[in-house]
Amino acid sequence: MIPKVTVDKIIETARVEEVLGDFITFKKRGVNLLGLCPFHGEKTPSFTVSPVKGIYKCFGCGKAGNSVNFIMEHLQLTYPEALKWLANKYGIEVIEREITPEEKEKQTERESMLIVMQYAQRYFTEIMTTTDEGKSVGLGYFKQRELSDAIIQKFQLGYSLEERNAFTQAAVKAGYQPKYLAKTGMSILSNKYIEGAEVKVTDVFDRYAGRVMFPIQDDGGRVVAFGGRTLTNDKKIAKYINSPETDIYNKSKILYGLWLGKKTIQQNDACYLVEGYMDVIAMHQAGIENVVASSGTSLTIEQIKAIHRFTKNIIVLYDGDEAGQKASNRAIPLLLEEGMNVRLLFFPNNDDPDSFSRKVTNQEFKDYIANNTQDFLYFKAKKLNSETKNNPIKKATVIKDIVDSIALIHDNIIRSIYVKECSSIMDLEESILQQEVNKIRRKTIKKGITLSGVEGTEETQNTITPFEVEENVKIKETEVLNFDAEEKELLRLLLAFGNALVTIEAENEELEKYDVEITLGEYIFFELMRDDIKFENPMYVQIYDEYVNELSNQRLPNLNYFSNHHNPLISSFVINYVHSNYELSKKWKLHGVIIPEEIQLLKKLTQTTLFSYKARKLTQIINESQQLLKTAHNNEDEIILKQIQHFNALKGRVNKLLGRVVIK
Ligand code: UTP
Ligand code: MN
Repeated sequence: MIPKVTVDKIIETARVEEVLGDFITFKKRGVNLLGLCPFHGEKTPSFTVSPVKGIYKCFGCGKAGNSVNFIMEHLQLTYPEALKWLANKYGIEVIEREITPEEKEKQTERESMLIVMQYAQRYFTEIMTTTDEGKSVGLGYFKQRELSDAIIQKFQLGYSLEERNAFTQAAVKAGYQPKYLAKTGMSILSNKYIEGAEVKVTDVFDRYAGRVMFPIQDDGGRVVAFGGRTLTNDKKIAKYINSPETDIYNKSKILYGLWLGKKTIQQNDACYLVEGYMDVIAMHQAGIENVVASSGTSLTIEQIKAIHRFTKNIIVLYDGDEAGQKASNRAIPLLLEEGMNVRLLFFPNNDDPDSFSRKVTNQEFKDYIANNTQDFLYFKAKKLNSETKNNPIKKATVIKDIVDSIALIHDNIIRSIYVKECSSIMDLEESILQQEVNKIRRKTIKKGITLSGVEGTEETQNTITPFEVEENVKIKETEVLNFDAEEKELLRLLLAFGNALVTIEAENEELEKYDVEITLGEYIFFELMRDDIKFENPMYVQIYDEYVNELSNQRLPNLNYFSNHHNPLISSFVINYVHSNYELSKKWKLHGVIIPEEIQLLKKLTQTTLFSYKARKLTQIINESQQLLKTAHNNEDEIILKQIQHFNALKGRVNKLLGRVVIK
């Protein structure tokens, strides 16, 4: 691990104009430099470097970043590799951080496990290509499934001999410790083994005898697990055996195919989700590489997040059979909730991508996919409509299904488009569908936003001292609800000034008030957390979550952390938006040092933004409640009215506080 001081030193030393100057010829344009963009073909220069800000931006293709981003992108290096490349250029010595003995042991252990897996992968491939049994049984099987040699090699497929412990014996003979064979799950401890004792050769035997082997790789392309398929049709034997969860294999995070497919996923801005190992492989053979499968588990949120790093467009290609239906019913709500655009594709006659791809040519396969992919919700609406045409009662019950799905979508605009389209497909009044969606959403927005900071007594309100800010922060009733401005501003404050210390009034258990000093980042975090407020924009959510994650690991991410982010969308947002608005207000320019008056201003600015944001959230809840009221029955009426009153009162208080902060 490169220590933080060294990272800072490298970033400080690696001046953007010098680093990029090795690759691009620049002309001076005022304080900036101008050259031809290396990332897209152009004849007139639109690639601008700002030595003062230490960043570059191409006005042609939009690529932006700093020295490290540039080296990563241009030389196709990882973040640590790029740092080392720069360190080498500037003669900065990189002494990787000393690690504690426990860390070292863990690390050595993980490394030993990875080495075992690498050995295993090579062993199984060798067995398949050089032994008689391997060639006839293992390779024969893949050939029968019509895989080409190139594809077999690309996926590093292999075969495990039909013997009790052929692999284990070979591995031990090659010098691998039985302990690691057991820890990786490649070998199984026999019941003779006594817990806690040293693992001996006689204690372990093969997990995957007589199976074809599919290595599973992590993000960096290292083999961390295997899936092994039986060659028999015996229904009593598990078709696939997968590695158990280990220190190097976190099942809920790893996706089969992501390592090989991520580049294409990013380039095509779309990802196919399939069910099985063979489906991923068959799609590659048909020339479609942006495809993943969840291996060994049903799709998890973490796996969805791993896809979301590269695209928000997902096409679900699950089987039409019952298991496939079940799996997609489970996966789709998670995908919608994660902000993904979900499309569906079915193959005829219960084919899966693998079996279908073998019945048609590659071109026909691609055409089929292109012509038959449909938006998930429209598909569902159409299906419901045809199934329930003459059955109003059934219709009413199944509409709920659609409503549940639409309600999961966080983006207001997209949600309302779906309401409109689905109501038209289902021949249903838009306002009715809207109300139903609102009902569900109201339930999921946690009951009774407390806005604890706001509900306080006069004293708490008095702690807010007057200061000046721009007008127009107050919210107009009629305004379309859009949270972007506040969310962006909160992120800007968080990223640019998150480590500034502010004094906040807190209460102990005896309700005594006292001052505490916390960082502005923590302040924003606590304020959003206690009202259970989440950003609407998925990218902001990602930045925010990562910030909070860093905070909770006792690290304070500075602006560099995000302008050096591996996700180019994030780094360019931060560089384009946060860097270029790195001032507290028009009057107060900041140059790294924050003087006491500015701290005060910073705190007020943050409060204004938070109040304004909360008021807007309340307006949303009140609007939705009023919609609800229109269709409510008598006894519900009263409850909703009470709620509206409650929220109006809260909003009144927020606006009052806001007014104080803004006007005085
Ligand atoms: P399927 O049963 O649909 O198999 O399981 P498949 O991928 O089409 O395999 P082939 O074509 O018969 O060879 C889908 C996925 O579910 C997991 C595997 O990841 C498999 O690829 N699975 C299935 C298991 O982990 N264990 C099993 O016993 C069965
Ligand atoms: Mn199959």
